[in-house]
Amino acid sequence: MSVYLGIDVGTSGTKVLAIRADGTILASGVGEYPCYAPRPLWSEQDPDDWWRAVVETVPKVLAKAGVSGSKVKGIGLSGQMHGSVFLDKDNNVIRPAILWNDQRTAKECEEIEAAVGGRDKLVQMVANPAMTGFTAPKILWLRNNEPENFERVAKVLLPKDEIRRRLTGEFATEVSDASGTLLLDVENRRWSKPLLDALKLDESLLPTVFESEDETGKLTKEVADALGLTTDCFVVGGAGDCAAGAVGNGIVRQGALSTSLGTSGVAFVYSDAPKVDKLGRVHTFCHAVRGKWHMMGVTLSAAGSLQWFRNALCQELRAKVEAEGKDVYDALCAEAAKAPVGSDGLFFLPYLSGERSPHADPYARGCFIGLTLATDRGRMTRAVMEGVCYSIRESIDIFRELGVPVEEIRASGGGAKSPFWRQIQADVFGAKTTTLNSEEGPAFGVALLAASCGGEYANVQEACDATIRRVSELDPNPEAQKEYDAKFPVYRELYKALKASFPKM
Ligand code: XUL
Repeated sequence: MSVYLGIDVGTSGTKVLAIRADGTILASGVGEYPCYAPRPLWSEQDPDDWWRAVVETVPKVLAKAGVSGSKVKGIGLSGQMHGSVFLDKDNNVIRPAILWNDQRTAKECEEIEAAVGGRDKLVQMVANPAMTGFTAPKILWLRNNEPENFERVAKVLLPKDEIRRRLTGEFATEVSDASGTLLLDVENRRWSKPLLDALKLDESLLPTVFESEDETGKLTKEVADALGLTTDCFVVGGAGDCAAGAVGNGIVRQGALSTSLGTSGVAFVYSDAPKVDKLGRVHTFCHAVRGKWHMMGVTLSAAGSLQWFRNALCQELRAKVEAEGKDVYDALCAEAAKAPVGSDGLFFLPYLSGERSPHADPYARGCFIGLTLATDRGRMTRAVMEGVCYSIRESIDIFRELGVPVEEIRASGGGAKSPFWRQIQADVFGAKTTTLNSEEGPAFGVALLAASCGGEYANVQEACDATIRRVSELDPNPEAQKEYDAKFPVYRELYKALKASFPKM
């Protein structure tokens, strides 16, 4: 049976996953690398680090899976969205890539809206307003701030598409990740000529756009030899990590919604047509399902908030439990479970790296509000978990406003591993929360896209039907749901009350 690889170029590392054509997981591995913050609001990575991780991890995963490289028929690529890799005419990387959680481009977002005659006009063109993390403002930032670098730019690629270029020699992207550049006419699934003209950017800077399931090229001889694969191995379009993760969660038809609690938190819903929130609070992007769309809301620090809390405030606990061979997150969850629902009125606003949805605000800051003498670590941990869920609920409520029914939430990402945090999701969202047999995330979604392209399935929906099933279900607890419904409006008031103070901080 043929083998397919999913490669996910994430922020903390690149994951490589090998599956059999029937969806069986054979092996996976991760190559890690650092993220650099050379200045406040900046977040950068070196594309050579991503490539090194690919080159080192693919052969290891093949060895672990015990399969010969000649069996690998196709590769799907996924990755952190919105990042900008600037290449010169000889394909040299000009400067470090600017990432999705970089917040340096507030001025350029204003410049883009002004260039097209306002935010509403921009939403009409590309279905979304300008957000600091998106790619187009990063290109303008380069032009405004590093003109000598901008002069040299011949191509701008997204992170996974830079890996594609190194694998195949092709300049290509696909509709889901291209949507997050802000330069795609999302409704018509092609680059927006009017916006490119208004921004005085040449379309030749951008790669060719494919559908996610389509082949974009084959491995070069040099790469095939280095990775132990063959030159018959094809690379499909793949998807940005959010759409790829959603495919991996079977969000390929009307009905279910998925949440993913990784560094960032994502609420993701499928849509047959390009539905747009006129206020631009959630994103409308092309889906990795051919000719379909999705909406999503992004909380920039989700499980990343709990990781920060652990790192900044729980080192002693960590040393103690790890010495006993236990996991610090389990210990934190056990303490949080003893705190009352609603954390005794303690709120956490998870804006540690600013915020995206529904408040596009690079200046927003993380807050604990409502501390008392009774506040302990359990209450603080619980407040962090509740705050992240309130933030995601804001996006889910916008989907509901737009008429999308929310019957089931499929929880994924590191944060979904904790049944305690999953129950908080069910209670805060007021919906049944399920988990699935596959926990491999975006890498699994793009491996399925490759298997579909390889003719194993008629399309990606069929691939999901054949390989994905529910393994757990949690219903909301009515008492807790009532308590969270009462507290949620207070959470919402807090951002409004602090909004004007954040930039002054
Ligand atoms: C999505 C987004 C993040 C990154 C993280 O819009 O910015 O989820 O894709 O990898």
